[in-house]
Formats: sequence, structure tokens, C-alpha cells
Amino acid sequence: PSPAGLIWRVTRNEEPRSDAERETILQNPGFGQYFTDHMVDLCWSEKGGWHRPRVSPYGPIELDPAAAVLHYSQEIFEGLKAYRHADGSVWTFRPDRNAARLQRSAARLALPPLPTELFIESLKQLVAVDSSWVPSNPEESLYFRPFMFAKEAFLGVRAAKKVAYYLIASPAGAYFPGGVQPVNIWLSREYARAGHGGTGAAKTGGNYASSLLPQEEAYKKGCQQVLFLDGDYIEELGGMNLVLVTRDGRLLTPASDSILEGITLASILELAKDRGLTVEQRKLSIQEWRDGAASGEIVGAFACGTAAVVVPIGKLLADDFEIVHEGPEATELAMSLREELTDIQYGRREDTHGWLVRL
Ligand code: PLP
Ligand code: COI
Repeated sequence: PSPAGLIWRVTRNEEPRSDAERETILQNPGFGQYFTDHMVDLCWSEKGGWHRPRVSPYGPIELDPAAAVLHYSQEIFEGLKAYRHADGSVWTFRPDRNAARLQRSAARLALPPLPTELFIESLKQLVAVDSSWVPSNPEESLYFRPFMFAKEAFLGVRAAKKVAYYLIASPAGAYFPGGVQPVNIWLSREYARAGHGGTGAAKTGGNYASSLLPQEEAYKKGCQQVLFLDGDYIEELGGMNLVLVTRDGRLLTPASDSILEGITLASILELAKDRGLTVEQRKLSIQEWRDGAASGEIVGAFACGTAAVVVPIGKLLADDFEIVHEGPEATELAMSLREELTDIQYGRREDTHGWLVRL
């Protein structure tokens, strides 16, 4: 029986991947390429609320061609991971935060809120049938991709009255093909990701769709991510938050209502504060980074997010200048925060904040 009072219907996949095939995938999963044998979905309707929770074999979704999501992008998603500990148990990290963010994204995209307990239950239901997909290799995990979209067949522009929530999962290694290496980022002046009053703080597909063209330009220039601005102010990367590191060990990160409230960022900042470091979350102009790098006040930067965890930034490339951080201080700090975070996630260090939830 569900804590939310719903009865789950579980249909086992009769043709799961063989043990050998799964083991081969888990040896080198990359990111986002392979999916487990099952998925979860729930329906929502105006009259019935959330209903018909089920676990089924992973496979295509049938959609009416008029489904609103295909036309007006009424869609939101989340990203979090399951980690296998040395004793074989499977844990996830701060899922209440992802549930709350999905609820905030839902509010902005005029979608119904999924209760936190149903969100967490969906993770548990999927792991119950697909636990063999949670890797045991160090630094690998099972990436959960919960998502919700408007499935009502109606072309009028209004909030849909029929919605679906799905959860799929994908074994994950390092997000960047090069592993945990410093990444280069390209400063996009021409393309913005979001603006005040827009959907920048929501995790909605459109924000990522608009980042693809600048991302292509970044690749051509040898950069793996794009740094977006709001006017002269630093926002975030296409799929990660940004932190600058000062000579005296302060961490600077943008305050903005048009960026995603990162759970990795919040956790890293807490770990930094536990170490006695000063954290400044405030408006940061690109000029402040330039001047700080020139004077030696800012010694480096790193990016953080669920998929990438924490990665140092080697270089910021703009059309008319570049900032190269060569000293080791910021990279060392980024890597030690990464290690502390992953030690907690993988059960190698005590979880004094109570961030882990057993699945
Ligand atoms: N910013 C954007 C645009 C993202 O896509 C992500 C990834 O989820 C983040 C920041 C980092 O958020 P989190 O640490 O919660 O994964
Ligand atoms: C995540 O880190 O979970 C994201 O959604 C970002 C994306 C680049 C995969």
C-alpha cells in the first residue's frame, strides 16, 4: 500500500536485458545513453488528481499528435542519482529537494504539483525492480530522470487538463567524455537563456532547447559548456551552476531569480561553510570576474550539478577576451569539495546533514 494511498500496478518486463548485456553496459555507461528495464508513470486529470501509478517495461510512449507538450512545451523534469554503498544498499541524495523543485517548476509551467511522498515513492518503486542497474563501480551511479508533461490533445493555448508523470533511469559515469578534467566555457553574449520573469528558475525543456544553438557554437570553439548572462550579470551554465573562488578562499556564486536553484550547489556551499569558508551569494558581473582574475583576487572557478558533480573550469573564452586560471588553488578546492560530497553520497563518510535517503 502506498503512503499516498494509491495502489501500484507492477508489470514485470518479460524480456529484460541479460545479465551479460547489463554488465557490459555498466562497465562503461557514459551519460544518458542506456536505460533500465522498467519505467514508472502516473496520470493526472483535473477531476481525478494523481492516479493509476504503475511500473511497466521500459518502452515507447503513445501520444496523441495534438498533445499540448508537442506544441507548447508544457514540460518539466528533474535529475538525481542513486548510489550503491559498499554493503550493497542503494541510497539517493536529498530527494525532498528535487521534489520541491519539481513542484516549483510545475507551478511556473501551470502543471499540477506532484506530492513529495509520491515523488520519492516513484524512485523506490523503480529501484525495487531495477536495482541490478545501480552500478557498483566507484563514481558511477544510476541517474533518475523524472519528468512531467501535458498530454491533453487540445491546440488551444491553456494549461492542459490531462498530464503525465514518468520516471526513467539511466546508469551514469562521468558527464563529460574526458572524465573529471577542467572544462572550458564559452561566454554567450548574443544568446540569453532566461530573463527576469521568464522560466529560468524552472527545470523545463524550453530552457535547454534554447541553449542548444549556443552550445553548438561553444563546441566549435573548443568549449564544453556555455556561460549565460543576464545583461552584464553572470547567471549559470547550460546545465550547471557556477562558483568563483577568491585568493582568500571565499566562494562567490550568483544570486538571480532566473537560474536553477542547484541542489549540488546548495550542498557544496554548506560543506564549504562547515569548513569555515565564506560564501557570497550575490549579483556578480562578468566585469568583476575579469577584474578579479586580472588582479589575482579571483583564482579560479568551478561548475556543479547532479550530472557533472563538481568540475573545475580551466578557461572562460569570450569573443573579445579570455580568462585562464592556471594556479592550482581553485582546482584543489573544487576537487576536495567534490570528494567530500561524493564520499557522503557513496557512504564513505558520515552523512552528518541527514542528506541520504535509502531506496
Ligand atoms: N543549472 C542548470 C541549468 C541545470 O540543468 C542543473 C542540473 O540539474 C543545475 C544548474 C544544477 O542543479 P542540481 O545541482 O540540482 O543538479
Ligand atoms: C542534471 O545535472 O541533472 C541535469 O539535468 C543537467 C543536464 C546537463 C543533464
